[in-house]
Amino acid sequence: MRLFVDTADFDEIAAAVGWGVISGVTTNPTLIARAGQDHETQVKRICELVADVSAETVTEKKNDLIVEGRRIASWHENVIVKVACTPDGIAAGKVLAGEGVKINVTLCFTVNQALLAAAIGAYFISPFVGRLDDIGEDGIAVVRGIVDAYRQQGITTKVLAASLRHPMHVTQSALAGADIATMPFKVLEQMYKHPLTDSGIERFMSDYRKTQEPQALGQRSGR
Ligand code: E4P
Repeated sequence: MRLFVDTADFDEIAAAVGWGVISGVTTNPTLIARAGQDHETQVKRICELVADVSAETVTEKKNDLIVEGRRIASWHENVIVKVACTPDGIAAGKVLAGEGVKINVTLCFTVNQALLAAAIGAYFISPFVGRLDDIGEDGIAVVRGIVDAYRQQGITTKVLAASLRHPMHVTQSALAGADIATMPFKVLEQMYKHPLTDSGIERFMSDYRKTQEPQALGQRSGR
C-alpha cells in the first residue's frame, strides 16, 4: 500500500518526502485555505516535490467543472484532478478522463459511488473513512467492500483510503486491501511510534556508551 500525506502544508510535505516514505499528496479546499496560499501557487510548489498530487475542483456544474478541471490539470503533469461524486462531477470527470486527465473521485461513502467512479475510468476513488465513522457507520467496511467489488469486477481504479484519523485506520486500510492510504502529517508521524522502540534505543545507546568509557576501552586493549 502506498502512503500519501493529506495536507497542503509545504513544510510537512517536504519533511515527509525527506523521510522517503510517501509517494503522493492529497489536498482539498479546506487544506489549501489552512496553508494560506493561492491554490495554483501551492499545488505547483507541491508538484515540484512529489508525484501524484490531488487538487480539488470547486465549481458545481458539468461544463464549469470541465473548464476548471482542464485548467487545474494544466498546472503540472503531476496533478490529479479531484471531482466530487455527484452527477455533474462524474459527468465532467468522464470528459476529462477521456482527454487523458487523471481523475480522483472524492467524497465517496458507498460501494455504489465507487462503481460510478470506475465507470468513467477514474484513476483514484477516495472513500472517506473518518467521516463515515463520525456518523456511526463503518468506514473501513466500505473500503473493504470497494476493494472486493473492484477485484470481482476486474476494475483497475485505485482505492485511496482517505479521511484517516489515527494510525489504526492506516493498518485497517492495508488489511482491507486499499492501494493507497492518505493521512494527516500527524498520523504519519504516529506510524513510527512505539514506546518499546524508544526504550530500546535508550537501552542500546546507554550500553554502547558504557563500551566507550576509558575503563572498558582499557580492558579491551589489555592496559
Ligand atoms: C482526502 O482527499 C481528503 O482531503 C481528506 O482525507 C479528508 O479528511 P477529513 O475528513 O479528515 O477532512
